[in-house]
Amino acid sequence: MILYDQTNQIFHLQGLTFSYILSVYNGVLMHMYWGKKLPEGDHAGLFVLSGEAASFDPPCNRHPREVLTQEKGYFGQRSLNLINTHGDDVLSLRYEGHRVFAGKKKLQGLPASYVESDAEADTLEIDLRDALTGAAVTLSYTVFHDFDVLARSMVIRNESDQPMTLTEVQTSVPLPMDDYEIIHLKGAWARERFAQRIPMPQGTFSISSRRGASSHENNPFLALVKPHTTEHGGDVYAMTHVYSGSFSASVDVGIDAAPRMMMGLCSDVFSWQLEPGAAFQAPETLLTYAHDGLNGLSHRMHAFIRQRICRGMWRDQSRPILINNWEATYFDFNSDKLVEIARRGAEIGCELFVIDDGWFGKRNADNCSLGDWVVNENKLPGGLKTLAERINALGLQVGLWFEPEMVSPDSDLYRAHPDWCLHVEGRERTTARNQLILDVSRKEVQDYIIESVSSVLRSAPISYVKWDMNRNMMEGFSAALPAAQRMETQHRYMLGLYRVLEEITSAFPKVLFESCSGGGGRFDCGMLHYMPQTWTSDDTDASERVRIQYGTSLIYPCSSMGAHVSAVPNHQTGRTTPFHTRCNVAMGGNFGFELNLNKISEEELRCAKDAVATVKKLRTTMQQGEYSRLVNPLTSNGRSAWQFTDDERVIVCIYQDYASPNPQPWHVKLTGLDENVVYVDEAHGLRCSGGALMSIGIPVPRAWQDHESWIYCFEKA
Ligand code: DGJ
Repeated sequence: MILYDQTNQIFHLQGLTFSYILSVYNGVLMHMYWGKKLPEGDHAGLFVLSGEAASFDPPCNRHPREVLTQEKGYFGQRSLNLINTHGDDVLSLRYEGHRVFAGKKKLQGLPASYVESDAEADTLEIDLRDALTGAAVTLSYTVFHDFDVLARSMVIRNESDQPMTLTEVQTSVPLPMDDYEIIHLKGAWARERFAQRIPMPQGTFSISSRRGASSHENNPFLALVKPHTTEHGGDVYAMTHVYSGSFSASVDVGIDAAPRMMMGLCSDVFSWQLEPGAAFQAPETLLTYAHDGLNGLSHRMHAFIRQRICRGMWRDQSRPILINNWEATYFDFNSDKLVEIARRGAEIGCELFVIDDGWFGKRNADNCSLGDWVVNENKLPGGLKTLAERINALGLQVGLWFEPEMVSPDSDLYRAHPDWCLHVEGRERTTARNQLILDVSRKEVQDYIIESVSSVLRSAPISYVKWDMNRNMMEGFSAALPAAQRMETQHRYMLGLYRVLEEITSAFPKVLFESCSGGGGRFDCGMLHYMPQTWTSDDTDASERVRIQYGTSLIYPCSSMGAHVSAVPNHQTGRTTPFHTRCNVAMGGNFGFELNLNKISEEELRCAKDAVATVKKLRTTMQQGEYSRLVNPLTSNGRSAWQFTDDERVIVCIYQDYASPNPQPWHVKLTGLDENVVYVDEAHGLRCSGGALMSIGIPVPRAWQDHESWIYCFEKA
């Protein structure tokens, strides 16, 4: 609901459990409150600030403004910066008007949250304008009636007759002065999204990616929490970017010790020429407040991402159990070898076989052929159609890997269009994994990708696509742009990529798309808008995966995480973990196999078959139910637990890194159950009330080996 108090010019945005309050004061849009839901009422008297401004800190610092620009002595970090035609960047935005309407508009060219009917949400748009320069901004706020997330974005317009340069585009929110800690998701290739929690410094804390992808290193997510906040209680203020390119996010503590959270485009690699009459659409940022701890944050975000970021036929459907040949064969395969792996997959109940890399051009290693999306008939005689029909005959669907944004220097595409890659004239084109990045900001490159991928999808019965991206931008500039606009390349690349994704996913609505960037280097809401799942990490080691999936789950739902059972010793760590543990951990995401099923023991094959049957029985709960974290592996000495709950059942997965002699007993306490309902786990002979499961918990059996794990499944009695 969006309430407006005209006398005091106060906007009160009421979500399901949060309030967000703005007011217009002397024409300036002020931020008054974000936090626990407040009743409708007159709060104006509470927003009076005491004291006088010191001469060194003029009036602008006294009141938290909604848009932080360079004016009247504001010395903190800016959320919006425009260099005007006079060469200065002073920007005094003043309120011009506002509108409230049912529903939510689409964002021009960008992924964003959406409504299925106007009755689902209300949107407030507020117009601000700088009288001297003609710079104008429209801020947009959408409050959903069934989801507890606030969606914010803005459009910046040049209403003058002179060009301007946009250099900073961030969504900012000031928070009340208090003690906070910062949570963010730190990582690197093969160790993505390890949740970090640190005290909020007096100064500026920032994370960013300049890589042209949201990155393995920093995820576009940031939260401030109170020191006492746990998984199950306490305040959380979080921001998430609906964007897949470079970004920055920060917490800037002002002289009054009040933090300002920000998230937006990374100004190190962004500026934009705003011509007279032109408009710039900023990416959307999602704001989530939870009073009920980190699980509260996750419940709100999971539901929202699953249903109002992800789209398409697969959004609400159970995801197929797949078998992927990458770690099983790498580049060393032919049709018969693939069919034999698929045959074994079919025998244990798999539903989809994915041909990962190596099927096109002359690619037998990672040093050639990206861009030449034509099947290699030497390896796959009769082409993809013949191979797909053989696999279909076994009862499996077929999936295919692409890396469409890339080009190998050794490829027909590069030989024909050497200027189609991102580069700087006169400088070496730095390769990574022996490849260059196509300049997807160019329309002709976008069209090439759309046509080459589409023609393969039209040529054979392909029902799944893995869309990979295996390097970051180095000399990341477009030769097609004039010098004054070169810094626009990265954002134009993203706009081009989103156009490509929109066209391809709309043209093939039945295909399940999974995004990937060397594992989880582009795990963000932008990609999830087009592809409802992402390959979580190239690290398939079960012990590592517990931590990676645990951190990822802070924001992203399990239905968005690809999770596969792989061979031991593990290819990334050399570690050997029990087969059932590899299965139990992979059940924390979209379950699949990535090993040669013909090379495992009879006992392991039986275990694989049981796991497939379990996933088929329980996947609705695991993919669409509510997911809660119970025990954090990063702070509990390698012990971990998580829980899935829906109306029918409760599933608990418990994992322990190391067995120890004379172990101390431990219990895993469940959460969010009905106290008086009786829950039964027949396999473990347990019949207990929800109250007992939450207060006493499941007694964890003694582990007689490292990397032990257990699954409990309780049905309501
Ligand atoms: C990187 C991905 O993350 C892997 O899963 C695999 O698809 C390889 N690329 C293939 O080159």
